[in-house]
Amino acid sequence: MTSSRLRPLIAGNWKMNGSRALTTELLTGLSALRGKQPDLAVDLLVCPPAPYLTLAAQLLQGSGIALGAQDCHAKASGAHTGDVAAPMLADCGCSAVILGHSERRADHGESSEHVATKAKAALDAGLTAIVCVGETEAERDRGATLDIVSAQLEGSIPADAEAGRLVVAYEPVWAIGTGKTPTPDDVAVVHAHMRSLLKAWFKDGAEMRLLYGGSVKAANAATLMHVPEVNGALVGGASLKADDFWGIALGAAG
Ligand code: PGA
Repeated sequence: MTSSRLRPLIAGNWKMNGSRALTTELLTGLSALRGKQPDLAVDLLVCPPAPYLTLAAQLLQGSGIALGAQDCHAKASGAHTGDVAAPMLADCGCSAVILGHSERRADHGESSEHVATKAKAALDAGLTAIVCVGETEAERDRGATLDIVSAQLEGSIPADAEAGRLVVAYEPVWAIGTGKTPTPDDVAVVHAHMRSLLKAWFKDGAEMRLLYGGSVKAANAATLMHVPEVNGALVGGASLKADDFWGIALGAAG
């Protein structure tokens, strides 16, 4: 049972939401909650939009809460107008970056090969890469979930990934922002499959944290977070309020 050994990671993906005011309110509140229970056995990570990373880094100082970004470019610098490089994220206080989220795969046409080059850039910059995979509703309906997840995993993870800095998030596209979730049994099947692939590909594949994402909230966190081989959550909507996000952390730890 690897899932009971790995310390859960609860990661908040703010997406394109927030402001300086919300960043301040949310992170002040979250830091206070964490401060009351510093020994709660979960790791917390927040991933605000890029313009708020520096403010977030200041607010999180000494809180024990880590900071991440939502994307990076595959190159370390250069003529790429509007893009953000992984070393810049590290320089601004990030320790992680979300890559290959289904919204980026859909909005920006990111292929798994492209995601792998970004993940490599993230690792080279000393960041943890949180690589997202997941099937659409149509793919699920035709019974292709495991095939899709296998192909995305194989294509998106760089060959030199190591457990300390590689996290996988399984996010069924149809569960994101919809209030719908797979059953715990369905999640267990996908996570067991991902675990067996990672163990086959990497010598420390048993230690890579596997997050579930898609409509996670405080009310369903305890159930979803205790599915075998689930080692935390990638949280969208419920990461925008300190109490909601903290409630998920409590559910994961309990
Ligand atoms: P949700 O989003 O929690 O709002 O469903 C999750 C995600 O897209 O990471």
